[in-house]
Amino acid sequence: MPIMTQIIGTGSYLPERVVTNDDLAKTVDTTDEWIRDRTGIRQRHIAAEGELTSDLAFNAANRALEAAGMVPQEIDMIIVGTTTPDHTFPATSARVQAMLNTGNGFAFDLQAVCSGFIYGLSVADNFIRMGQINTALVIGAETMSRLIDWQDRNTCVLFGDGAGAVVLRGEEVAEGEKRGVLSTHLHSNGHLYDLLHASGGPSWTQTAGHIRMQGKDVFRHAVTNLASVVDEALEANGLGYDDIDWLVPHQANQRILDGTARKLGLPKSRVVVTVAEHANTSAASVPLALDTAVRDGRIQRGQLLMMEAMGAGLTWGAGLVRF
Ligand code: COA
Repeated sequence: MPIMTQIIGTGSYLPERVVTNDDLAKTVDTTDEWIRDRTGIRQRHIAAEGELTSDLAFNAANRALEAAGMVPQEIDMIIVGTTTPDHTFPATSARVQAMLNTGNGFAFDLQAVCSGFIYGLSVADNFIRMGQINTALVIGAETMSRLIDWQDRNTCVLFGDGAGAVVLRGEEVAEGEKRGVLSTHLHSNGHLYDLLHASGGPSWTQTAGHIRMQGKDVFRHAVTNLASVVDEALEANGLGYDDIDWLVPHQANQRILDGTARKLGLPKSRVVVTVAEHANTSAASVPLALDTAVRDGRIQRGQLLMMEAMGAGLTWGAGLVRF
């Protein structure tokens, strides 16, 4: 019997401290109205001093494990999608493995910026379907606040900190039964490297750098690429827009969410939107949105979920899941 990857638990975590648009307007030339109007963002959560990406990841992972009814020792592989690791090396996932008090299996970080969770889901799904592992913890965790130039109004209003996680398990399904991860689709275009980047790195400046972005170009590519990868995922499964119960998109910006939904002809009522509450949390945003809608009862077992994201690289991808 074929093995398909099931999402058996979800979890998320946002740091306690909330920074509103009005708070930002005290230090840069911006307004609550401008930020809401152009991005839909109302506030972001910012990690406390000394609170690291691994702490956020650990909290989200614990909640996902609890929801799955599993203990860390049952996990074969841990992937942390992050662009803001605790240290340049080792991987943040190694620290999370230790925090979870498990020495089982293996752990690594995955760097695809805002697409990190979708990339992680894809990698884990392939490992599971190949039979190399049976269970995985895929986490997206970021402290984007540590890469923000707080004087740059073009970017400082857009990002926040947070983490989301899923527990995956391979289960045998009947021949022809389509339950769990149906397919994943990944893309990148390194020619667009400069559109969104950090102005530093260990090999370049020996510092982490700050976020730099050509916002209008990123916006244009986002709507086009996201709509096209959603089409690709539907076509690969012989499904149409009407089959999607929930679009669970990367939460970058309300206007990108609206633009993509409009291009796909999906009503807003079928799009999970959480960006107002936590801004763009990069790799954390898709699992954060997923967990929010699972816990508030919008997403039900058996529904068809289309998850998608685009980030720096550029990278983009989609995962279609019969939840
Ligand atoms: N407050 C007030 N004004 C601001 C501002 C802020 N926080 N940020 C930028 N502006 C100003 C600009 O300086 C510019 O002023 P100017 O005309 O005097 O030069 C003006 O607003 C318009 O800027 P523009 O870049 O044309 O705005 P926009 O409509 O494209 O909106 C973004 C800017 C960043 C919101 C938009 O481009 C965007 O959402 N891009 C995608 C960003 C994203 O999601 N990135 C992550 C993807 S993973």
